[in-house]
Amino acid sequence: MSVLGKAYYALCGTRWGHAAARWTVGGLRRAGFLGRFQFPLDALSLDHRCVRALTTLWSRIHWSSGDGMMPAEELLAMYRFAATWPVRGATVEVGAWVGLTTSYLAAASASRDDGKVYAVDTFEGTKEGGTHYPSVAKFGGRTLDAFEDQIRRAGMTDRVTPLVGMSGEVAERYAGGPIRMLLIDADHSYEGVRADFERWSPHVAPGGLIVFHDYLIPDVAHFIDGLDEDRDEIIIDPGRVLPNVFAVTRRAGPIMTASVRADVSVSTVGYAHVVSP
Ligand SMILES: C[S@@+](CC[C@H](N)C(=O)[O-])C[C@H]1O[C@@H](n2cnc3c(N)ncnc32)[C@H](O)[C@@H]1O
Repeated sequence: MSVLGKAYYALCGTRWGHAAARWTVGGLRRAGFLGRFQFPLDALSLDHRCVRALTTLWSRIHWSSGDGMMPAEELLAMYRFAATWPVRGATVEVGAWVGLTTSYLAAASASRDDGKVYAVDTFEGTKEGGTHYPSVAKFGGRTLDAFEDQIRRAGMTDRVTPLVGMSGEVAERYAGGPIRMLLIDADHSYEGVRADFERWSPHVAPGGLIVFHDYLIPDVAHFIDGLDEDRDEIIIDPGRVLPNVFAVTRRAGPIMTASVRADVSVSTVGYAHVVSP
């Protein structure tokens, strides 16, 4: 990273530097400048503590580095959720690939001195029906080393635990305590998303957040749109925060095993909340 970039991150890591950067960037934006730096600068809307943890992460890894599967604005949405959701506990990412999103979740957890981050994956790039992401070949068919490398570079080794195996098996032996944020991003078939939701949501703390990635995949949307507030012990809120990201909240009380209707509508009407910068 350039000296200028490092200095900027260091500045944003202080209370007054953050306030000054926010004020300056706000003014420049209102004047029509800085449009192409939307992502890193959007982060300034977070509070000082969250920005400090994020800029520390960026000083260790480039903010969109490596082979991550989420674009920048989705990474920031994940970070925003993980850093600000008002329930304490563990964070679980089901489908971690090579750990870029995991690094953001871990930095968020560090910023609030919260629980561990568990990354669930076969680390073999498994896809629906047992096929594999073609890009797994680049990692010799196994992504665990690349994952651990990424987490090490992010300085988050002590906070992150990879849980290796098929998601359903791992959910059965999970012993990491109540989950405050569950990110489902593994098998994107209807059955895969349903299985992940049913097996993992009983571990989610009351008031905890369940985030689905890849809402733009029709099978994923089909499952999410069939979630029923009355039957599934969830609240459809915050809803659709970005085109590809949908989040719901776990109600208090034991979750019912979801018997998801097959005849659900794929409509998204009414869930169009947007994470505002
Ligand atoms: C889309 S990638 C995850 C991307 C990651 N969340 C990110 O933001 O970079 C999907 C991952 O899920 C894993 N996966 C798919 N099905 C799985 C299953 N049934 N159990 C465990 N891991 C699975 C794959 O190995 C792959 O690494």
